[in-house]
This record gives sequence, C-alpha cells and structure tokens, in this order.
Amino acid sequence: MAPGVGDERGTVGLAVGRRGLGPARRRLLTLSEPANCREYVALHHRLRVDQADRLLDVACGSGLAIELARLRGATCAGIDASPRLIAVARDRSPDADLRVGDMHALPWADHTFDVATSFRGIWGTTPDALAEFHRVLVPGGRIGITVWGHIKASAGAWALAPFRLAAEPKVANQAAMVALGRPGVGEELLTRYGFVEVERVRIPFAWEFPDPETYARVLAATGPAYEAVQQVGEPAFLEAAIETARQHVREGLPLRAEIDLVGYLARTPQSVKESR
Ligand SMILES: C[S@@+](CC[C@H](N)C(=O)[O-])C[C@H]1O[C@@H](n2cnc3c(N)ncnc32)[C@H](O)[C@@H]1O
Repeated sequence: MAPGVGDERGTVGLAVGRRGLGPARRRLLTLSEPANCREYVALHHRLRVDQADRLLDVACGSGLAIELARLRGATCAGIDASPRLIAVARDRSPDADLRVGDMHALPWADHTFDVATSFRGIWGTTPDALAEFHRVLVPGGRIGITVWGHIKASAGAWALAPFRLAAEPKVANQAAMVALGRPGVGEELLTRYGFVEVERVRIPFAWEFPDPETYARVLAATGPAYEAVQQVGEPAFLEAAIETARQHVREGLPLRAEIDLVGYLARTPQSVKESR
C-alpha cells in the first residue's frame, strides 16, 4: 500500500538513530524525496501561493514543500510529530517557524494563516485535524491537501506491491488509512468541517529510480516497508522488490512509477452568512 503512516516512520521509513537520521533515511530524503517536487509545485500552483501569503504546512515532514513555498515568497510555518524530521526542515529553512507537535492541537492562534497545506499528511485516521486547519486560517483562507487516490489502478502500482508482504492486519490498516482518496469522501469531509468551494483535482506523483537495486533499497526505508520487513525479513523483502522492479525495466530509461494522487482545494467562508 502507499508510503506513509501516522508515526515517526512517516513516508520515509525506519533507520532513524537516536541522535538523527540513519543512513537509510538520509538516502531516502536525498534520493527519493525530490520526486515529490511534482506534487508540491502542482498544489502550490493551484493554490496560487505567493509573497502575500502566510502558509502553514501540516505534517510537514522534512520540509521540502516548505522550502519550495518559500521560493514563491510565502512566509512559512510547519509542524510535524517527528523531532528528527523537523530538524531537517529547520536545516533547509532556518527562517521558517517550524515546530514539533500534533496536528490535532496546532500551537498557533486563530486566523494566523492565509494558506494551509498537507501533503499525504491527513489520513482516514486523522480527519479531526481539519477542524484545526479551519481555526488557524483567516476567513477566506485557502486549504490544499493531497491524499492517495486509486492506487491499485495506478500505472506504478507495482512499485508499492512489496508492501503487501506485511502481515494481513497491517495491510488492512494501510488500506483503511487511504480511504480519503475515494470519490466523494474528501469532499464530504471538508464540507463537514465547514470548508466551502471544495474542488477535487489530479496531482502528479511519480517515483523514478536508476535500477531495481536502488528502488529496493529506497523502498525498504519507507514506513510501510518496516511492517513488511518485520514480517518476512529484510533479505526476502529486498529480493521480492528487486524481482518486481526487474519486470518494469525499460531500455535506456529510468524505472518510473506513477501513482494516483488526489488533491482537494477549498477555502474557509468569508463570513458567518456564507458558512450557513
Ligand atoms: C506521509 S508523511 C508526509 C510527510 C510530508 N508531508 C511529505 O510530503 O513528505 C506523514 C507525516 O505525518 C507526520 N505525523 C503523523 N502524525 C502526526 C500528528 N498527529 N501531528 C503531526 N504530524 C504527524 C509524520 O511524522 C510524517 O512526517
């Protein structure tokens, strides 16, 4: 199933030492994470993020999206549950307001931000965080979130197949967490939390790797892989991943796995009257 679970292993896996990132996590952040730029740039573009905006990124992880929003001139803040990922985000964006904390209790006053984003940070298991997004946004403030879409129907579904080596209850839990991408579910949720003009958009997401071995090593450092590795052991996981990827090697081109990602755009009402 899709990368990313609601704990410190996040999108980007295990191997986090007590004092910082382990080699697997560093490899993932530098070799795989840049592929997410497609997603970040597309959503910022749809939200028309610019220098007038105070932007909050929730579950910001290592802060690459924040770095890109700063390039558009926005004044940025971010929050994540992982101190180690926030340390990376601070290293990337020293002038941003970056905090360790819980998305269900945002440590900012009401109406602080013009824009709030979350990239694969809101899950079927964390919908109540949307009340906090609403609270910290100004009236008329814009929200943009991405969630996994129809993964099984994605051209690159093969790249996530090794996660199914996890124990059956873990696989079922991963499936439940991605329910927000189903047609109508995100729209209903955002409306229920008081957002208006809810729009569903397609957001690009693609992984690229030079070869099956690199793909397998990167995949092994992700959160869902942790559960699969626990079940079958790392050598068997790597072997299965390499075998899967070999079937998708293309002469003279990188391995490429496009995964369906859904974006939701909406805004808070301008007035009490509009919210009725
Ligand atoms: C799938 S990752 C996405 C990270 C980042 N948005 C990105 O684009 O790579 C999910 C993130 O949610 C964070 N997280 C999980 N539960 C959280 C919570 N209750 N409050 C804040 N962050 C949380 C994890 O630490 C992880 O960094």
